[in-house]
Amino acid sequence: MGILTARTRDEIAAIVSKARQDGQTIGFVPTMGALHAGHLSLVKLALEKCDFVVVSIFVNPTQFAPHEDFDRYPRMPEADSLMLAEAGASCVFLPDEAVIYPDGKDCAVKAGAAAKGLETDFRPHFFDGVVNVVSRLFDLVKPDAAVFGQKDFQQLQVIREMVEALGLSIEIVGAPIARDESGLALSSRNAYLSSEELSVARRLNKVLLDAVQALRAGEDQDEVMAEAAQALVSNGFEKVDYVRFKPEWQRVLAAAWLGKTRLIDNMGL
Ligand code: PAF
Repeated sequence: MGILTARTRDEIAAIVSKARQDGQTIGFVPTMGALHAGHLSLVKLALEKCDFVVVSIFVNPTQFAPHEDFDRYPRMPEADSLMLAEAGASCVFLPDEAVIYPDGKDCAVKAGAAAKGLETDFRPHFFDGVVNVVSRLFDLVKPDAAVFGQKDFQQLQVIREMVEALGLSIEIVGAPIARDESGLALSSRNAYLSSEELSVARRLNKVLLDAVQALRAGEDQDEVMAEAAQALVSNGFEKVDYVRFKPEWQRVLAAAWLGKTRLIDNMGL
């Protein structure tokens, strides 16, 4: 069977309720499109967990600040839908802004404690925008399980916290980070990079790995983090937002800039 397409609230409700009537469990992968192998690994995981997998493609305005890349964010829904069909997804949900935000963009749901620091220090609007859209998408798709990439590790924690706070019975699955042959974490924003920037970007995971190994060897946390930030700059990153070890997640997380592109990555101890 080919992939189903839903654009409206009624369409997604009808498709999901038919799947339920057929006794199928619903898996969900929310995305902003410009799909790559990383997204397809989330779809694969969702297909292992659930019978019927919905993938949404929606570039969510509420998680971008006015100066960020909302307008230039890559949009290619036709190519994305073909990739999803090939990957075996059951339904692609392509809502527009009026479908997601029929009554304006305010949201009672706010990001919780996991949103403190890291990304929020630099993108204060970001996680409130993410929980705004994800809570609305969950309400429309009503999945049994939803898959998020560990590349956005803090986002994954924020979503887990939201699901618990709202008492939703949705299993949140964290998928391992998909990397290219050089170890660069796959990201839709890698498409912005020039070939010189790409070779610098490929150093990010190496710097994280060095930091993780130094921490494993018992070196001083603050020194390791300072060295990692310095290594990013000497490898060609123009600005480092943060490189931090988060003890409760046992992870080193980083965000750094190459020209107008901001890259994030993280690695567990
Ligand atoms: O990780 C993303 O692509 C987005 O933040 C998400 C979860 C699809 C919400 O817009």
